[in-house]
Amino acid sequence: MKPLRIALTKGRLEKSTVELFEQIGLDCSCLRDKGRKLILPVGDGELEAVLAKAPDVITYVEHGVCDLGVVGKDTIMEHGSHFFEILDLGFGRCGFALAAPRGVDFYSGYREKTVASKYPNVARRFFESKKMDVRIIRIEGSVELAPLLGLSDGIVDIVETGVTLRENGLEVVERIAEVSARLIVNSASLKLRKREIEALAARLEAAIKGGN
Ligand code: PRP
Repeated sequence: MKPLRIALTKGRLEKSTVELFEQIGLDCSCLRDKGRKLILPVGDGELEAVLAKAPDVITYVEHGVCDLGVVGKDTIMEHGSHFFEILDLGFGRCGFALAAPRGVDFYSGYREKTVASKYPNVARRFFESKKMDVRIIRIEGSVELAPLLGLSDGIVDIVETGVTLRENGLEVVERIAEVSARLIVNSASLKLRKREIEALAARLEAAIKGGN
């Protein structure tokens, strides 16, 4: 049987993913010593890990070239959901928040507000739910710069420790959603390789619960 192919988000979630895999007894020596390789065996031929940027994890799983993926709920909320989300992996905890310069009442006044975000879909849905017309400008990173430079009134962004906001004179106006890493599955794979996928998810779930 060929290995299940799992797309892993490179960077922030990578270390915790490897630790969780090792907790369930999967040999991750190739992942730990990967060099610049992007496709690596995990365990005893059980899994093949593909290292990708978060939105690409979703693309590979949606297209079925990867059976499974590990990706943050933030990316899922922004980039779609043509797959099954089967497990909250419990790590990578942070939240979406609306933030603005400290001491400024974001909601005051009648002028249309401008908000910068790396997550324009999440921002748009948040303001739609409030029936507020807001102009949204997409920024690729370090979104905190936008209000500091006078481009926007606020930002919708990920807040983890809150240090980036604090050190740049911003504060949370409202929390929007809680975020953590999720295990996602291609819908055809879930039918065709149901037993293997469910067994893996059950082992991961037991390790997560045991670790609490
Ligand atoms: C994220 C996020 C904030 C920061 C929040 O950025 O966009 O800037 O982390 O973390 P904190 O609350 O612990 O300070 P990231 O480091 O991923 O880089 P980016 O801004 O370039 O996306």
